[in-house]
Amino acid sequence: PPPTTFKLHCSHRPTYTPSHIPNPNYIRIFDTTLRDGEQSPGATMTTKQKLDIARHLAKLGVDIIEAGFPASSEADLEAVKLIAQEVGNVVTDDGHVPVICGLARCNKSDIDKAWEAVKYAKFPRIHTFIATSEIHMKYKLKMSKEEVIEKARSMVAYARSLGCDDVEFSPEDAGRSEREFLYEILGEVIKAGATTLNIPDTVGYNWPREFGQLIADIKANTPGIENVIISTHCQNDLGLSTANTLEGAYNGARQLEVTVNGIGERAGNASLEEVVMTIKCKGDLLGGLYTGINTRHIVMASKMVEEYSGLQVQPHKAIVGANAFAHESGIHQDGMLKNKSTYEIMSPEDIGLYRSNESGLTLGKLSGRHALKAKLFELGYDIDGRELNDLFWRFKSVAEVKKVITDDDLRALVSDEVFQP
Ligand code: KIV
Repeated sequence: PPPTTFKLHCSHRPTYTPSHIPNPNYIRIFDTTLRDGEQSPGATMTTKQKLDIARHLAKLGVDIIEAGFPASSEADLEAVKLIAQEVGNVVTDDGHVPVICGLARCNKSDIDKAWEAVKYAKFPRIHTFIATSEIHMKYKLKMSKEEVIEKARSMVAYARSLGCDDVEFSPEDAGRSEREFLYEILGEVIKAGATTLNIPDTVGYNWPREFGQLIADIKANTPGIENVIISTHCQNDLGLSTANTLEGAYNGARQLEVTVNGIGERAGNASLEEVVMTIKCKGDLLGGLYTGINTRHIVMASKMVEEYSGLQVQPHKAIVGANAFAHESGIHQDGMLKNKSTYEIMSPEDIGLYRSNESGLTLGKLSGRHALKAKLFELGYDIDGRELNDLFWRFKSVAEVKKVITDDDLRALVSDEVFQP
C-alpha cells in the first residue's frame, strides 16, 4: 500500500505526507551528479572525490542525492554505502539531512544492491526504472507492454517489501512513450507503493511546451497521482533541458533532477545552477516556486565537480562559466560603472563568486577610457588627463594583439617597463 507518512528530512523546509502537502510551491532538488553525471564519458571519480562532492551537495542544501548505481560495480556500491553512512546521517548547517538514493533497474538483484548501499542513511531511497517507449520495449527490452507493467509493479512492491518506505519509479524514455500506457503503468506503481514518479526525457527529444504538457497530462490522468511527487529528468540533446525542466515545474512537478555544471550522458542533463537560479530570479512568474538551495555554495560545487570529473566548464556557460560575470565592451563597461544592474541580472555574490576585481570589468580592445581608468583605480593608480590619454592609446595597441589584458599587463603599462608607444 502507499505509505501514509513521509519522513521529515529538513527542519526549515516544508515537509510533506503524500496525502497532505503543506507547501505546494516547494521544489525538491534531486542531484544526480554522482550517478547520471558520472556517466559522462571520462568522468569517473574516486570514492573519496564522490564523498567530498556529496558533502558539498548536502551543504548546498540538495534535498535528495542520487549517490550512484550500486549494481554497476562493487566500487560504486561501496561509494554509495559510505555516502549513506556519513552524509546521510549528518545534520547540515541549515538543519537538514539529505535523502540518499541509489539507482536500480527493475530486477531483484539491482534492487537488493541499491538497498544494501542506501539503507544506512537516515532517509534512504531506491530509484528503480524500466523503459516504456515502443522503441525501447521492442528493441532493447524485447518485452510486451503487459510484461513491462508487471515488472514495474512487482519490483516497486519488492523494494517496499525490503523496508524501504521511499521508492522512486521512472518510466525510461517517457518523453517518447505513449500517453495512455504511461497513465496505466504509473497508476500501477503508485498502487504498489511508489512515492515519487520521475518523468525522464531520456533522449532530450521534447521541447518545452511538449514536455510541460506531458507533465500536465500525467497529473490530470494518472490514478492516485495526488498522493505522490511528480519529478522531471531532462537530458540536453537539443539544448532544452533547463527550459523543459522549468516547464515541468510550472505544470506540477515538485522534484527536479539536475546535475552540477549539467554534466551527464551525451549532451548532459539540466544543470543545477541554471534551474535553481532561474527559480530564484523568476519564482514569482513560475507561480511562487522556491527551492531550499543555499546558492552561495554554487561556485564551489561547480569548481569541485569540474576538477574531480575532469570536464571543463565552457567559458560562456550560464551562471558558472568564467565569462558569466565578465564585461568587456566599452558600452557595457560604461553601464556597469554607472550601475551594475544595467548588465547583471544577479549579483555574483549570490552564487558565491567573489571577484578579485570589484567592477567585473575585463579589459580588451573594445574597452573605453572610463573602464581603463576604473580598472587602474582598483589596482591603486589614480590616473587622469593627458597621462590617462597617453596610457589609453598604448593600452589600445597592446589590446589589438592580446586578447585579454591582465592586471600585470596594466601594471607594466603604467610603469612603462614593457610596452612603449
Ligand atoms: O535518462 C534517464 O532516463 C535516466 C533514468 C534512469 C531516470 O537516467
